Amino acid sequence: MKRSKHLRKSPVGSVAVLDIGTSKISCFIAHVDSAGNTKIVGIGHQLSKGIRSGIITDFAEAEASIVSAVHAAEQMAGETVENVKVSLSGGNLVSRNVTVEMTMLGEEVTDRDIMDIIEQGRASIVHNESDIIHCIPVSYYLDGARGISDPRKMFGKKLGADLHIITGLPSITRNLAHCVARCHLNVEEYIASPYASALSCLEDDEKHLGVTLIDMGGGVTSFAVFAGGKNVYTDAIPVGGMHVTSDIARGLSTSLSHAERLKTLHGSAIATASDDHVMIDVPPLGEEDPEESNGMPRSMLVGVIRPRLEEIFEMIRSKLEISGANMYAGKRVVLTGGASQLLGAREMASNLLGKQVRLGRPRALPGLAEAVSGPAFATSLGMLEYITKKPMEEQMFDAYRHRGGLTAGFEKVVNWFKENF
Ligand SMILES: Nc1ncnc2c1ncn2[C@@H]1O[C@H](COP(=O)(O)OP(=O)(O)OP(=O)(O)O)[C@@H](O)[C@H]1O
Ligand SMILES: [Mg+2]
Repeated sequence: MKRSKHLRKSPVGSVAVLDIGTSKISCFIAHVDSAGNTKIVGIGHQLSKGIRSGIITDFAEAEASIVSAVHAAEQMAGETVENVKVSLSGGNLVSRNVTVEMTMLGEEVTDRDIMDIIEQGRASIVHNESDIIHCIPVSYYLDGARGISDPRKMFGKKLGADLHIITGLPSITRNLAHCVARCHLNVEEYIASPYASALSCLEDDEKHLGVTLIDMGGGVTSFAVFAGGKNVYTDAIPVGGMHVTSDIARGLSTSLSHAERLKTLHGSAIATASDDHVMIDVPPLGEEDPEESNGMPRSMLVGVIRPRLEEIFEMIRSKLEISGANMYAGKRVVLTGGASQLLGAREMASNLLGKQVRLGRPRALPGLAEAVSGPAFATSLGMLEYITKKPMEEQMFDAYRHRGGLTAGFEKVVNWFKENF
């Protein structure tokens, strides 16, 4: 399929986001006005092929899926797209927390000082090993005073910033950009999936009090911890709902499509007393005739699903503990992503993580269709929210980055994450 050339070019204020997931690719086109109001005007989604856990595995297949999703969104919007913001969610997503401190040249903190400190934080990451996706200032300090959210126009001698830096593997981002370029599109920027999903699913109070957003996708489970209103930790594991489906297909000797159906219709992560008595039809692998299905107790299905879900939540728990992020994460967890819809996922997460868990649906934006309003679209909708809720430092960064070298002297670059507790 080719993208249409007969539509008008995208007008000023038009933005396009592309979520390249393991299960589906979705493209949303929206118009954002000068007051920051967003209206969705084009929606396209397509089963994903040639992509696995955020990594391109087959260029031609991935290209066809992307073109098909973008084409549908363009047709609906009546306009063509050139630039897209692309989600990044693979297991290569890592985050680091660094503190940067500098002696200021003047007495009053300026935009330039903010950009210098961010530039220095970015420079602390080895660029040929990681691509920086976000550099989020969590908190500033000025001389002795800590916890400053915006130090501009304040007076002081020494400015410091605790930064949360999210990186991806350069080979993966380059291959994504190459694949998107083959679709005649340009990657304007990458947005980390769990960060985006958090923007669409979390309440402001949750972000302030401490919360972990877990986006359970097809091939990746990614998560973001928010505290004090800021994203302070981001991570991902390359395991998701697709692995549950494969386990069912192997464990019950059925096809992947039947396994997927069994999972969504009868599956659960938590056993119930009636599971041994409820019989389900499982068509054997290679057998198309439904009459030939084997009858199995539902407990067998639950017995296959449960260990995989336990593995996912245990990996998350261990990453939160080892990184020190658990100290910030508070007592709440919000689950989203397509795989969060599995019956019992909420209860299991609550048992294994020892926190209060709720299911998070993304906030609706004007123009959103019901079919794409579920948790599987949290990342796409969150990317649209990111456009208007991007931290001021990230907005300023692009404007400043080409303006020449650093001006101030730096004295400290350390990991702040574990030191504060
Ligand atoms: N009702 C349901 N019950 C259980 N699982 C479900 C349900 N609906 C969808 N899923 C699962 O959700 C997963 C897809 O989720 P999602 O669309 O969020 O993934 P993705 O964004 O394409 O992938 P990723 O982010 O991992 O690259 C699939 O594994 C699918 O089986
Ligand atoms: Mg996803």
